[in-house]
Amino acid sequence: MADSPLVIGVLASGRGSNLQSILNAIQSGALKARVGVVVSDKRDAEALVKARAHHLPAFFLDPRAYPDREGYDEAVVQTLSAHQVELVVLAGFMRLVTKKFLDPFQNKVINIHPSLLPAFPGLNAHRQALTHGVKVSGCTVHFVDSEMDHGPIIAQVCVPVLEGDTESSLADRILAEEHRVLPRVIQYYADGKIKCEGRKVLIEDGLSI
Ligand code: GRF
Repeated sequence: MADSPLVIGVLASGRGSNLQSILNAIQSGALKARVGVVVSDKRDAEALVKARAHHLPAFFLDPRAYPDREGYDEAVVQTLSAHQVELVVLAGFMRLVTKKFLDPFQNKVINIHPSLLPAFPGLNAHRQALTHGVKVSGCTVHFVDSEMDHGPIIAQVCVPVLEGDTESSLADRILAEEHRVLPRVIQYYADGKIKCEGRKVLIEDGLSI
């Protein structure tokens, strides 16, 4: 159907505050989409608890049950496809995805990372920012490719690094922006306004965050 809401699959390994921000945006009407399924590689992920509290299908897929990363990704893809997922959102999903994942979902997988990429990819982005003494950090939403925190950049938000910041105070300030920008990017995607051409992401009308 032309105007049925975009179906999102959310992959998360941890507390799921970004999942919650998506659900809040849907509930408030700011985001016209539906979370079709939530998948985690961690049995105890708080994200699964949050999903179940919203009566959403939520699955723990155990990486140890598969012979390799490809096998695991095939199982994830099956789960996503079975729930008619049209856009996959990695929201604190702590695994690199393989071709087996990306091929069936080309330009349909986005990730959020708590730094201004390409600075500070990988783990401990806030610690890396503080160690380098940068005055500005932020968050990035990008399409996912098979390298870590590397694919074409869709949107970035700057956050000042303040004197006396700790990892946790910086993380909190950045997280507040993550919660704002991710649902907005998803709405732009749902509206068909985001196009990826190679490493360049084109946004119709420009993205106002
Ligand atoms: C966020 O900071 C996100 O940018 C990063 O992992 C964290 C996930 O947090 N990729 P949450 O599970 O959404 O609360």
